[in-house]
Amino acid sequence: MDLSVLADPEAVGEHAASIVVAALAAKPALVLGVATGATPLPVYRRLARARRSGTDFSRLSVVALDEYIGLRAGHPASFAAYVRREVAGPLGVPAERLVVPEGRGERLEEQIRAAGGVDLQLLGIGRNGHLAFNEPGSPLDSRTRVVSLSQTTRSDNARSFGSEAVPTHAVTQGLSTILEARHLVLLATGSAKAAAVAAALTGPVTPDCPASVVQMHARVTVLVDEAAAAVDRDGAVGR
Ligand code: GLP
Repeated sequence: MDLSVLADPEAVGEHAASIVVAALAAKPALVLGVATGATPLPVYRRLARARRSGTDFSRLSVVALDEYIGLRAGHPASFAAYVRREVAGPLGVPAERLVVPEGRGERLEEQIRAAGGVDLQLLGIGRNGHLAFNEPGSPLDSRTRVVSLSQTTRSDNARSFGSEAVPTHAVTQGLSTILEARHLVLLATGSAKAAAVAAALTGPVTPDCPASVVQMHARVTVLVDEAAAAVDRDGAVGR
């Protein structure tokens, strides 16, 4: 596991974007797994800037991790809308090279296989240690499936829904599905994630902290800012 503690979310975004650009140079037809939420936004902004400066994204494929269940098509808070708005649009990825979970995710794993598997998977982490929408208690060998969302996750994600109710269920790649990516890049910023990061990286590999499964992967890059690395002196991951 390669852990870097960086000054702030912008530095995390810059470092992560440089990893993606290097992977793209090595494999122009890169299959990039993308996370949603606030943490990866600086990465996507930098990748869009790299494209404007001439980096070639013309053969990139993008695969989304998860999606709410029950939102109307095109709902602005859907993860499909997020990925189109923040990633596929700015990077010029056409629909035929964009995979987002549909329905109850019945075809997602087949679509990922058809794309050749994920080369580089960007990951965030939930405050409760969730990975994608694998909530605490998720089996470590779980596959793509419909899950119920915890209250913590629903309240953390409520900011995207305004006065609308946050969905209670989602479809998510499972923990085993995520581990099949060839390279995991886990991003975490802010003090609210410090405990989850410490548990994920230094605690036991357990369904109680789904993100702890990253310890089982052969190639993991962890990029955190000072705030997300700063647990108590004993448990801090970054010192
Ligand atoms: C959601 C997503 C996760 C993401 C998490 C953290 O639950 N399903 O993939 O990592 O939010 O989001 P943020 O980066 O906004 O804290």
